[in-house]
Amino acid sequence: MSVTIHELGSWKAESKRFAMLTAYDFPTARILDEAGIPVLLVGDSVGNNVLGYENTLPVTMEEMLHHTRAVARGAQTALVVGDMPFLSYQVSVEDGVRNAGRFLKEGGAHAVKIEGPQVELVHRLVDLGIPVMAHVGLTPQSVHGLGGYRVQGRGEGASRLLDEAQSLEKAGAFAIVLEAMPAELGAELTRSLQIPTIGIGAGPDTDAQVLVLHDLLGLSERIPKFARAYADLRGEIARAASGFAQDVAAGRFPDPDHSYS
Ligand code: KIV
Repeated sequence: MSVTIHELGSWKAESKRFAMLTAYDFPTARILDEAGIPVLLVGDSVGNNVLGYENTLPVTMEEMLHHTRAVARGAQTALVVGDMPFLSYQVSVEDGVRNAGRFLKEGGAHAVKIEGPQVELVHRLVDLGIPVMAHVGLTPQSVHGLGGYRVQGRGEGASRLLDEAQSLEKAGAFAIVLEAMPAELGAELTRSLQIPTIGIGAGPDTDAQVLVLHDLLGLSERIPKFARAYADLRGEIARAASGFAQDVAAGRFPDPDHSYS
């Protein structure tokens, strides 16, 4: 049985903090699931972390569904959230409903995540039984409109973010990602909402924290200020690859232990 959106809500009531990680493929999803990570987000950050795009804008529904299916196959217990890509929900509510439904129907996700104050769409999806994780603050699909990956909610922007978050909660979102905002605002939003807040660059006082897996593992070329690398997989992979190449060049691999008689 998977973690449910209702459990996440009760964890907030119990002040039980939790972690969410992005996942993009089957083996990683299995490892994270077995490690007890309760929520796996198939982020559209697959675009820059896995597919080599400059940002998340080119990511398509087909790409998202492909990765969501792989993660759903690997997750036994975690709640799997599919991230709706750019232009899969902004054009019309009808488009948004159809594409959100595809994440559940074809992707095996339990919920979708939507960037920005898409209040009408969230309302409609929740009415239809499609759970929605909201996302406010720095919303990477709006990178050009925002003028870059900038901290949001400073000064007068704070009350706008508060309004957006409260409207999304009212529309029925079960949780909300708070990205790149002053820690004080992250704390204020967390106090003012009943639903769990999941911070990324929003300070220590949110109900949960999310990191992009490639930042956590030390696979990213550059790690943002708010992230912490808990491993050095870039280094490990490079060491493994060059160790193999050196053994092949020197005739040390394969040895008799790795050969059939
Ligand atoms: O796509 C993603 O990885 C995200 C997280 C940063 C929340 O939206």
